[in-house]
Amino acid sequence: MYLGLDLGTSGLKGVVIDDNGVVLAQESVSLTVQSPHPTWSEQDPLSWWQACLEVMAQLQERLDLGKLKAIGLSGQMHGATLLNQQGDVLRPCILWNDGRSQTQCYALMAESPDSIERSGNLVMAGFTAPKIRWVEENEPEIFQQLAYVLLPKDYLAYRLTGHMSTDCSDASGTLWLNPATRQWDADLLATTGLTLANMPTVHEGCDVVGVLSKELAEQWEIAQLPVVAGGGDNAAGAVGMGVINPGEGFISLGTSGVYFTVSEAHRANPDNTVHAFCHALPDRWHQMGVTLSAANSLAWLAKLVGKSVAELLDALEDSDMVRTNVIFLPYLNGERTPHNDPLANGQFIGLDNQTSLESLTLAVLEGVAFSLLDCQNALSSAGSSAESLSLIGGGARSGMWRQIIANVLGKRIIYRDGGDVGPGLGAARLALLGEQRRLGGELEALIAQYCVMPDVLEEHVPALETQAYYQEKYALYQEVYQSTKTLNG
Ligand code: XUL
Repeated sequence: MYLGLDLGTSGLKGVVIDDNGVVLAQESVSLTVQSPHPTWSEQDPLSWWQACLEVMAQLQERLDLGKLKAIGLSGQMHGATLLNQQGDVLRPCILWNDGRSQTQCYALMAESPDSIERSGNLVMAGFTAPKIRWVEENEPEIFQQLAYVLLPKDYLAYRLTGHMSTDCSDASGTLWLNPATRQWDADLLATTGLTLANMPTVHEGCDVVGVLSKELAEQWEIAQLPVVAGGGDNAAGAVGMGVINPGEGFISLGTSGVYFTVSEAHRANPDNTVHAFCHALPDRWHQMGVTLSAANSLAWLAKLVGKSVAELLDALEDSDMVRTNVIFLPYLNGERTPHNDPLANGQFIGLDNQTSLESLTLAVLEGVAFSLLDCQNALSSAGSSAESLSLIGGGARSGMWRQIIANVLGKRIIYRDGGDVGPGLGAARLALLGEQRRLGGELEALIAQYCVMPDVLEEHVPALETQAYYQEKYALYQEVYQSTKTLNG
């Protein structure tokens, strides 16, 4: 049995698989995001650890955890978890969807123009490096105490093992890694006043980074299990969905929306806001377009009207509504691909006295699909495409949303078993690979055996008769951003 712990933004999930890779159980605990100022997005790392303890307790009630052989990790990317020399947390983690550091992004690009080439990525707010410059300028007393920077899932690994480590898929999103060599770049670190001494050791996603501490092993009544590095949530989600070879892709409808394709080498395309990162498996890389508010947009609407997401979706399906005049721009947290604009605003356009809640819900589903079309266009101008796409994440549970995405993208969308637990499943698979390799298994053979695409539950083929409607609406959607962006900030 293997455990994957996935530290998402809205919750921490534990996914357990058996020795054949079949999902046995999943448990989760919710997390909240704090936004004390406009564009800020933070979480207390201690709340992650508390959630981890709760998930372990829940799993313990359902399974004999004594059968576990290894633990793997997956997590929200880019977050700056700042620790002092003693390993204590210095301030709330600044998350991936935090937009406070745009000025620092411009400054870093102006001071070190070659950093874009070295890291293979544009310096965008939300990535880790500009946040450190922000802390240096705005919280100098914290910066002075800063001894270590960890990514969110790596803070969990530190609490589990006592070792500071990371993996190269997650580390790619810091802007301090050279994704081609898959190692830290001392010159990139120096742009934000850091050195290798401040950084955890970089591993491949399936490397064992330590063992469970004696104290936790005793507390959970299990062995001092190997802990495996794991991956950033998108790369781990790809491992979970068997998206590991060039030309394969998937879309994640989590808090963020991600359009992910695998590449055979590191292929940078910063001009199009394409993220070009290491994959969580050796000798593989990936590209992605990222929209910052996907399932979050629906959760926002539900909260605003005092309903659950399921109630909104049920009411829409019952209404039989398939078209609406309302246009929604999902920029509730600014936007990365394609605008790189942390101050971009969400919009509802086209309201009248007859506008129903169902219209708003439909407009949200369409708006997020259009933002994924923006990602598809950015990736295709970077020379990257995928024939068909698996859909994962909480939002993927809605058949209606899956069909809208197929229609808008003009692509076959496949919903697979385990799609709702993609990154946690990937983390559990990485744990299995790490432990089996430690016992002498050949890695590529293990990858071929275990990192397969799960069974298809449903396929969605683009409905040709909807194309004119979506094309016209997408053009309006693009115009609305251009004509309203001066309102921002
Ligand atoms: C990727 C990104 C998000 C987070 C959310 O660049 O910022 O997908 O990883 O979990």
